[in-house]
Amino acid sequence: MPLRRALRQSRIMRLLSLFFAAAMRPALPLALLLAVTLIAACGEVEDTRPGQPVKTRQEAFKAIIRSFEPMGVMLRKGDYKADKFLAMTEDLIAQRDGPWSHFGTDTDYPPTKATAEVWRQPEKFTEAKAAFIAATDKLLIAAQTKDRKQLDKPYQAVYDTCQDCHKTFRRR
Ligand code: HEC
Repeated sequence: MPLRRALRQSRIMRLLSLFFAAAMRPALPLALLLAVTLIAACGEVEDTRPGQPVKTRQEAFKAIIRSFEPMGVMLRKGDYKADKFLAMTEDLIAQRDGPWSHFGTDTDYPPTKATAEVWRQPEKFTEAKAAFIAATDKLLIAAQTKDRKQLDKPYQAVYDTCQDCHKTFRRR
């Protein structure tokens, strides 16, 4: 190895070890804290736009799942309570229109998890939304019968419309 290159390498090693020695001692907890904070912050971009359309529609989807999920749990666990199930269905109906008006033009920005297809294929997005609304109508009719046997299919049908839409329009 040429002498000059060897010298240069050893100088780099010395500098590196000096750097790490300095970094590891008193600064370590601070550095760790900083790293953890940065990682946490990366996951949560704030929606700083006026009216917070992205955050608002995400909250609206959370409200939908908050009523929809316990209905599924009730069906799977076998502790069906007709009135409670009906009340949850009504709550789902009350929440189902929440997200859609917040998908305006120019609202494809972080922290959104929507795909660009929402704005590229607006007709298909509208269709997916209509399928979801129609499926919840059917679920309500079934819930009103209070007949446990009639609920699995329409519940699953609503679930399928969530998945169908997410397949194209939501990032994983
Ligand atoms: C017509 C399309 C469509 C339908 C139907 C739909 N979603 Fe979504 N959903 C989306 C899109 C798009 C997003 C991403 C929104 C964003 O991040 O801007 C989303 C996001 C979500 C989120 C994440 C919210 C967050 O905090 O980031 C949940 C939870 C969710 N949907 C649940 C559901 C459930 C449950 C159903 C059915 C009962 C459903 N969605 C039906 C399109 C749909």
